[in-house]
Amino acid sequence: MKDAELHALLDQMTLEEKIGQLVQLSGDCFGGGDVATGPAAKIGVTQEDIDVAGSVLNVVGADEVHRIQDAYLAKSRLHIPLLFMADVVYGYKTCYPMPLALGCTWDPERIEKSYRLIADEARADGCMVTFSPAVDVVRDARWGRVMEMPGGEDPYLGSRFAEAMVRGFQAGLGEGEGIASCVKHFAGYGAAEGGREYNTVDMSERRLRQEYLPPYRAAVDAGAKMVMTSFNTVDGVPATANRWLMHDVLRSEWGFSGPVITDYAAILELMNHGVAADKDDASTLAMRATVDIDMKTDCYAHSLKRLVEKGCISQRAIDAACWRVLSLKNALGLFEDPYRGCVDSREAATHMCTPAHLASARACADEAMVLLRNEKVGTGEPVLPLRRGAKAALVGPYADSADIIGMWAIHAGKGPVKTVRDAFAERLGEDGFVCAKGADVLTAEELSGLGSFAKMFGEGTPGPQEPLIEEALAACRTADVAVLCLGEHPLQSGEAGSRTKLRLPGKQQELLERVHALGKPVVAVIFAGRPRVLEDVVPYADAILYAWWPGTEGGEAVADILFGDVNPSGRLTMSFPAAEGQMPLYYAQYPTGRPAGANHAGRFVTGYLDAPNTGLYPFGYGLSYHRSHLENLRLSDEAIMPGGSIEAVVDLVNEGPVAGTDVVQLYLHDRVGSITRPIKELKGFERAETEPGERREVRFTITEELLAFWRQDMSYGAEPGTFDLMVGLSSQDVLAAPFVFRA
Ligand code: BGC
Repeated sequence: MKDAELHALLDQMTLEEKIGQLVQLSGDCFGGGDVATGPAAKIGVTQEDIDVAGSVLNVVGADEVHRIQDAYLAKSRLHIPLLFMADVVYGYKTCYPMPLALGCTWDPERIEKSYRLIADEARADGCMVTFSPAVDVVRDARWGRVMEMPGGEDPYLGSRFAEAMVRGFQAGLGEGEGIASCVKHFAGYGAAEGGREYNTVDMSERRLRQEYLPPYRAAVDAGAKMVMTSFNTVDGVPATANRWLMHDVLRSEWGFSGPVITDYAAILELMNHGVAADKDDASTLAMRATVDIDMKTDCYAHSLKRLVEKGCISQRAIDAACWRVLSLKNALGLFEDPYRGCVDSREAATHMCTPAHLASARACADEAMVLLRNEKVGTGEPVLPLRRGAKAALVGPYADSADIIGMWAIHAGKGPVKTVRDAFAERLGEDGFVCAKGADVLTAEELSGLGSFAKMFGEGTPGPQEPLIEEALAACRTADVAVLCLGEHPLQSGEAGSRTKLRLPGKQQELLERVHALGKPVVAVIFAGRPRVLEDVVPYADAILYAWWPGTEGGEAVADILFGDVNPSGRLTMSFPAAEGQMPLYYAQYPTGRPAGANHAGRFVTGYLDAPNTGLYPFGYGLSYHRSHLENLRLSDEAIMPGGSIEAVVDLVNEGPVAGTDVVQLYLHDRVGSITRPIKELKGFERAETEPGERREVRFTITEELLAFWRQDMSYGAEPGTFDLMVGLSSQDVLAAPFVFRA
């Protein structure tokens, strides 16, 4: 539809119809089902509200989408189709590794391609807009939603993945392909105090702009069609009512012209935040902040008309919001085809879990897992890869579990999941290894602590653990090596999955220690939605492979790595804490006036009395089956002039014995600034493949833009002075060379 026609349509709409476009309702309103991730209570909308509603939340399924759209359009005066929006966080039917794990690939190109495939599955089943990617910067593993953030703790990395995911989802959008991407949760959600879900976020504007906003900005610049508000406050004002954030920054500064949607019921929650007295008040605040769509409450549906009549909200504001929603529908071609690539269910099924999609999910999982530890055993060789012919005992609650897709893969079934056991059986035959559960993930008490939501997982109450442990020990006694598949419960991470204890739950630690006591080499494979404290695991495991929630092909990927068919290349994107009390933890620390290591009467320096300042495993870290190092760092010039650049070149040397991939990382440090500058910040990276014995050059270009920051006067730019350029294979293992920026 041409813009003029769209304007003509807007002109024909009644106020009720316009307001309807600003209301998003869940499937139950349309006689369907949905997944409730917030208050599930009926929200009191009337049939009249439903008849003019603009969009539907989390309804997917080709037949269901056709049914709802048909029934709606049959009654609709102006035939404005419904927009179907859903969470497609890390895969649709083919489940990929969770986003934090995808980030550990450091491979945005692969992720972009993968998200095209994800979009293809979702679109065939009726999804038009997805609430994804989430690009909150996360530095506190207590927060359960760290699993959703591809950039982990780093704004630069987060920006690269944000744009890759948006581009992947939206590829071919104008031609009827892809799905529209709604970036979330704007803004700062990842910085909830104490890692406690939905908690206060409060930081300086400088820090927000410097460290938290860049990934959202990158998503907007990559063309994300929609933005979702976050649940938290920003400088005292909840994001959903925050005009500075939504209007001044997002729209005026960044030029975002699409619709902004609230997170689930977030308008209503303005009352709980104590900034609105009632629904009228809440609706006024959100409208003034230019928040266009009310997800899953009746605030807009029941307040806006009255507010317009009273003159609290202008007709123009309603028109502008409605226009943004109609424009999105038009950009998606809904006026021409209200189903938009949503085929019938039989054809939709042919799009799901195709061999190409599974292969892509597996390649992502292969790259996402991080080998944290690989000690030499008996023969003097590292325990991994497993030696051919060695008899393995595969034990632990995740040895044969399809729960490895995690909690946010809401559309993916467990049916197609390959468990680790499946993958072992494929390679070794059923008789080639022994398998035993060893322990449940949680004790009965821990499971009941997860509340009634856990019933969704349909698990029975765990029985006595001792017989399971005994059975696993018996299995391990017959084997040469024990592979323990351990981890947290899927519902211990994800939304509202905040925790203060990050050690192995249930009787898994005991299982690990008793297996270790048998004296055989032990490999721990950890499944989790967050970095965990591995201090207690390290002494009992010769190798640790961190598998995250690796998705449908996760079992295969674990086997690919354990058997050496794949040389691990995943590198951490969140620092792994040595103790829970260290958090928030991140490599890009600021210096203090009393650095660790200074001698101040033997005490008065920054640090803890009972833990180091650094984590157990740093950002950027991960092992491979080849050994490698960097050497010979050289710069093309000692100075950068305004608008100019220099090149840094470093040699990556593969010492053998196999071909491998390293992630070469570029960090910068501004020695003296008008404000304190981080001790290092990631500014570039490259996945570099090498053959055994190969030496290859890796190059980075450093421009003035990479030196810029929000200066003391809140202007953005670089300051003259000396910088340290660092390249490394992790954030803690770097070569450095200085250069100067001359203004
Ligand atoms: C989550 C969002 C999600 C929305 C819709 C909320 O609870 O915070 O990330 O997109 O529900 O399901």
